[in-house]
Amino acid sequence: MSARIPVARPELGEPEWQAIRKVVESGWVTQGPKVEEFEKTMAGMCGAAYGVAVSSCTTALHLSLVVAGVQPGDEVIVPSMSFIATANSVVHAGATPVFAEVHPDTFNLDLDDVRRRITEKTRAIILVHQLGLPADIAGCAALAEEYGLAMIEDAACAIGSAVDGRPIGSHSSLVTFSFHPRKLVTTGDGGMILTSSEDYATRLRRLRQHGMSVNDRVRHAATSVVRESYLEVAWNYRHGGSPPVPRRPIQQAAGQPPDDPRSRGARGRRVERPELCGAPRGV
Ligand SMILES: Cc1ncc(COP(=O)(O)O)c(C=O)c1O
Repeated sequence: MSARIPVARPELGEPEWQAIRKVVESGWVTQGPKVEEFEKTMAGMCGAAYGVAVSSCTTALHLSLVVAGVQPGDEVIVPSMSFIATANSVVHAGATPVFAEVHPDTFNLDLDDVRRRITEKTRAIILVHQLGLPADIAGCAALAEEYGLAMIEDAACAIGSAVDGRPIGSHSSLVTFSFHPRKLVTTGDGGMILTSSEDYATRLRRLRQHGMSVNDRVRHAATSVVRESYLEVAWNYRHGGSPPVPRRPIQQAAGQPPDDPRSRGARGRRVERPELCGAPRGV
């Protein structure tokens, strides 16, 4: 007899169907009011000022690198053990990923090795909270400050994790999350950047939507023609994938109740990190 134990399985049922139905009936099947609600809920839950929902954590990382000023020719230090998206996002930004060692007991970045790999070209460090176990945020922030580098937290798996009682998302100015079905809260696919900076939030919102000066909701609510301008070359990284529907409604609705403890999507582990504790073996 062989037993199969899935790494993760999303629990989606009647409450999610009802939420999806409401979104479909509203007609807002991409980047609508529910997405805005979700951004506010996530930001509130994680102690950040702003949430910017995008199509995945990979695109969240890419945009974070862009707003942090990473440019072609720069180097960005990433952990040698992470999902490939961490390093790929650096390549998407035109920069070069530089791999640093991880601690064998936590699988999180070894900051002594990060220090050894800093060069004149280094522009940023991506600190991954591997499998949701918080990495050394304070240590990395101090190192980044010492060398004038940007720090981005890749918290793809760390929704609900906390350090000294403070949730991941509240410590630094660019923190990215994933809502892929293997994560603790799923929206089908999707991602979010939490930030404490209004300037970052404004630019991130523009960059996810073709660099457009006016967002969709303002345009659709307008009673006269709105002439938008395109302030920079950007991407379509709106929270949602490609049609066909109902992928987008799923993303908008299923992500809705992370603050509701009864929600299945909200269930998950919470990882406190008073010190660099050992990661579970054999995961
Ligand atoms: C550490 C890390 N970063 C980024 C990602 C990419 O997330 P997404 O699939 O939402 O792009 C993952 C996905 O598993 C991940 O584990």
